Amino acid sequence: MIYMLDTANLDAIKKAVDLYPIVGVTTNPTIIAKENRPLRDIILDIREIIGPDRMLHAQVVSDNADVMLEEAKALRKLDSEIIVKVPVTPQGIKAMKLISAEGIRITATAILTPQQALMAAMAGAEFLAPYVNRLDNICGDGTQVAAEMAHLIDVYQLDAKVLAASFKNVQQVHEVAKAGYSRSQSHRMYLTNCWFIR
Ligand code: G3P
Repeated sequence: MIYMLDTANLDAIKKAVDLYPIVGVTTNPTIIAKENRPLRDIILDIREIIGPDRMLHAQVVSDNADVMLEEAKALRKLDSEIIVKVPVTPQGIKAMKLISAEGIRITATAILTPQQALMAAMAGAEFLAPYVNRLDNICGDGTQVAAEMAHLIDVYQLDAKVLAASFKNVQQVHEVAKAGYSRSQSHRMYLTNCWFIR
């Protein structure tokens, strides 16, 4: 299991990287917008703080696969090691096929069902991000979805990892961490959020 941060706040990233075993930072358009600075500057600053070895994820904003591909290429120009986040819409799945063909690493994001995750993994996504709290908020079971995803990865021997996201409390983090261990036995359950620096 690994921990990643889900923030673009430079002070929070500095603090967490100093204190905790953080292996990467994920961002999304909402998180970036909160900083009131250009995406380019934020990405370059985060990379400077986290160094060359930690992962950095940034998301495309278009709803069209061909434009998402161009965005992914532009992000890679900015940071050669960037991992591009793509939502699991039909155009997003198409974009994953195109982006992975370019050799760019992908996180499939905004996942609400295990079937979306499976489809994204088949399309070339390396990380699969279920929105745990958003599922819990609509009377779903975020932990169960994350656990089923880990199970499917194991059953079909997919080269993908669950990157559970959208946590709002430590109990959710704990439940997903337990699910990753007990169900998949594969250490493929990763957690992203900044709950511990709030
Ligand atoms: O960045 C992905 C995810 O963690 C967003 O979570 O539900 O707080 O918008 P949320």
